Amino acid sequence: MNKKSLVSIDDLSTDEMVSILDLAEEFEKQPSQTLLEGKVIATLFFEPSTRTRLSFESAISRLGGKIVGFTDASSSSVTKGETLNDTIRTVTNYCDMIVMRHPIEGSARLASEIADVPVINAGDGANQHPTQTMLDLYSIRKTQGSLDKLNLFLVGDLKYGRTVHSLLMAMSRWNTTFNFISPEELRIPVEYKLYLDKLGLRYYEHSDFTEIIKEADIIYMTRVQKERFSDPMEYEKVKNVYVLRNHMLRETKENMKILHPLPRVNEIHTDVDMNEKSYYFQQALNGVYTRQAIITRLLNLK
Ligand code: CP
Repeated sequence: MNKKSLVSIDDLSTDEMVSILDLAEEFEKQPSQTLLEGKVIATLFFEPSTRTRLSFESAISRLGGKIVGFTDASSSSVTKGETLNDTIRTVTNYCDMIVMRHPIEGSARLASEIADVPVINAGDGANQHPTQTMLDLYSIRKTQGSLDKLNLFLVGDLKYGRTVHSLLMAMSRWNTTFNFISPEELRIPVEYKLYLDKLGLRYYEHSDFTEIIKEADIIYMTRVQKERFSDPMEYEKVKNVYVLRNHMLRETKENMKILHPLPRVNEIHTDVDMNEKSYYFQQALNGVYTRQAIITRLLNLK
């Protein structure tokens, strides 16, 4: 079988990304279709999720497909000691595609090598979350009119934030200027800076963003992820370092938008929600259209 998986955002060429975004626009105009009639998609969530799982399931349902899977590894035979290898070898018999979230980095690549059907990485540890990136790109293009030459502020947990890592790699295709705002402990890993260095792209690191916020086209806030810390005291030290509040947005660009992959904890105060510059709930909605586009492209459905 000629199968194409989506494990890392770099599995997609720039042309493929643009083509998925264009197709997502078509699904936004008409989300209910029958392209997945007769198809079964497995959603295997070894880690909790609200948006990714439900928007995938909504996307599949709106395309007429069926869903099998689990929302919690404790309801699968993993609790009896089954390996990921054996789970994937089994599930591949039951479906036409696997969507998987797993806490271990590299697990999605491994699954894609074992499965006979395409695998979509719905987040593997602190590594990658490529479908989130596609909906982020969709949201950025929709609100800014273009992906070219934007000033992107990435704020919060840049060390463990898989959405940040995937987005950085994707936006590097469009001559982006990156501003990294994080506590010392959660700085962007050096390999991503080397990645940008190699491409000759500009990036700046800051410990605060109140003075420079007016330069942003997109502010991408992220949660400090408690589940990635082995020492709870380390988490306590950094969890509330950045809190975006409505009054801080006064001098920001008219068309600036605030994105967040969600869930949020305290990093965006609820007083921002009514500001027209907040876009995170529409961003989550865009996940349905972009996931419809990704699924149909990987399954080669016209
Ligand atoms: N953005 C995102 O991955 O959200 P969930 O963890 O709720 O799926």
